[in-house]
Amino acid sequence: MIYECAPMEGVTGDLFRQAQRLHFAAADKYYTPFLSPTSSRTLSARELREVDPAHNAGIRVVPQLMGHEPNDFVWMAGALRELGYDEVNLNLGCPSGTVVTKKKGAGLLAEKDLLRRMLDGIFDLCPLPISIKTRLGMERPEEFYPILEMYNDYPVKELIVHPRVQADQYKGKPDLTLFAWALEHSRAPVCCNGNVFCAADARAAAARFPKLDRIMIGRGLAANPGLIGELQGKAPADAAALEAFHGTLFALTAARIPDRRALLFRMKEAWRYLGCSFENADKPLKAIRRAQTLPDYEAAVRRLFSDCPVRENAGFIDK
Ligand SMILES: Cc1cc2nc3c(=O)[nH]c(=O)nc-3n(C[C@H](O)[C@H](O)[C@H](O)COP(=O)(O)O)c2cc1C
Repeated sequence: MIYECAPMEGVTGDLFRQAQRLHFAAADKYYTPFLSPTSSRTLSARELREVDPAHNAGIRVVPQLMGHEPNDFVWMAGALRELGYDEVNLNLGCPSGTVVTKKKGAGLLAEKDLLRRMLDGIFDLCPLPISIKTRLGMERPEEFYPILEMYNDYPVKELIVHPRVQADQYKGKPDLTLFAWALEHSRAPVCCNGNVFCAADARAAAARFPKLDRIMIGRGLAANPGLIGELQGKAPADAAALEAFHGTLFALTAARIPDRRALLFRMKEAWRYLGCSFENADKPLKAIRRAQTLPDYEAAVRRLFSDCPVRENAGFIDK
């Protein structure tokens, strides 16, 4: 099985990747949170940090791009090729209202002519192979039948299917019936994404879909960065390993974000996921959420690591 790390803006960026691979078994492939190619033809400072080869050494990283202008996409893919990348990913899944109104992300799924023009343009001119990360549609899962037919007209390197529609956001269960149909009918290799939160979920997906050879994990890996190692037969992450991982993530984030408030905000976001992997952690997690100073934050984190055991089958819990 190939294990892929999902792009999660603000969560699985370059610093997470560095800390995760340092302390645990690396994913076979990591996708960057989306970059936005625009007519300005520049990579922002944030985007440059995300794709800086020095921040991604020793792991396979695929930059993800979101937009509907083929020429801008092709330009950015060229810039990424210069940096050494060998694949780019097109985001056709982002459900955010502001993105969708601009006919980007999942919004493009409802604009068949614009989607066709985009796919024609990028598959014609892009200097790198292209994979796609897609939802099923905007409103109804059945929208996916013609969408997959369209994808099948192109040499898609890999099709990552998050079997929800835009209107679901992240609620409810992924539609596994439609996913099974996609696995049967896609010309491109299909990767399964959505609600694989722990090792047991990944094993259940593999058992349900014998043809499946790749799984993308987002919130589960953010909650338990040792999940891939566990799936590969290594010992599950213990408190010492998770503490060391947190120490690295904190040090890297502190070096990146000098503003203390912004640093605390970012680390609290990481704990929304990491906190799920511990038993009886409500009190220290509340203290982490409430911490206004670094000493308060550090004391709450120390308390959590000393008092709370790591859960069995650790991973994300959708509360
Ligand atoms: C905070 C957050 C940020 C995300 N950012 C991106 C993104 O930049 N690009 C993308 O394709 N998906 C993004 N996603 C969706 C994830 O990649 C993934 O599809 C989703 O979390 C479902 O997988 P999971 O159940 O394994 O978490 C994001 C999800 C979350 C919760």
